[in-house]
Amino acid sequence: MLLLIQCATHSCNHSHPELTTHFALHLPDAKATQRLGSRLSLCLAPGFRLYLRGELGSGKTTLVRGVLEGLGYRGRVKSPSYALVELYVISRLHLYHFDFYRFRTPEEWSEAGFRDHFSGAAACIVEWPERAGDLLPGPDLEAVLARAGSGRDIRIRAFSSAGEQCLRTLPDD
Ligand SMILES: Nc1ncnc2c1ncn2[C@@H]1O[C@H](COP(=O)(O)OP(=O)(O)OP(=O)(O)O)[C@@H](O)[C@H]1O
Ligand SMILES: [Mg+2]
Repeated sequence: MLLLIQCATHSCNHSHPELTTHFALHLPDAKATQRLGSRLSLCLAPGFRLYLRGELGSGKTTLVRGVLEGLGYRGRVKSPSYALVELYVISRLHLYHFDFYRFRTPEEWSEAGFRDHFSGAAACIVEWPERAGDLLPGPDLEAVLARAGSGRDIRIRAFSSAGEQCLRTLPDD
């Protein structure tokens, strides 16, 4: 089941009041997480930024596996928790998959030299974006994953018109 909530600006408690589209879904198992990732892959375009928040093991990398599957990538998708970044070159897109868990301060993100990756044509998916603090450019979409029973709940918010468009056009299951 897919739930698209349109909330009036005054009743939405978030920092970008001009954008009001939220998406929420229960993901009963890892396959459901991957399926949603595949659907999100349709939104990825040059420069698109998708940030993934949620505690350790909440399903962020699993979602990225689905995104890459949706993009037609058939190789192994490694978690970038140690390498910090993996680059995927897919015919229509360059995609950086970052994991900033290991940064202890936002300055470490600056020093790592990733800023240019966020201003070019590549799409960027980031796990643990909060570790880069305010230095990181804002996302088009931000997803928050949380454990819910044996599955996960996901909430996605749009922060740009591209993100909003994505949520509007996510096809129903
Ligand atoms: N909807 C779901 N229901 C149950 N298990 C899930 C679901 N989605 C993912 N998982 C499982 O959760 C585990 C952790 O997933 P994953 O590695 O994607 O988490 P993560 O958020 O990337 O963690 P980290 O912060 O350590 O990078 C995996 O075993 C995965 O199969
Ligand atoms: Mg991960």
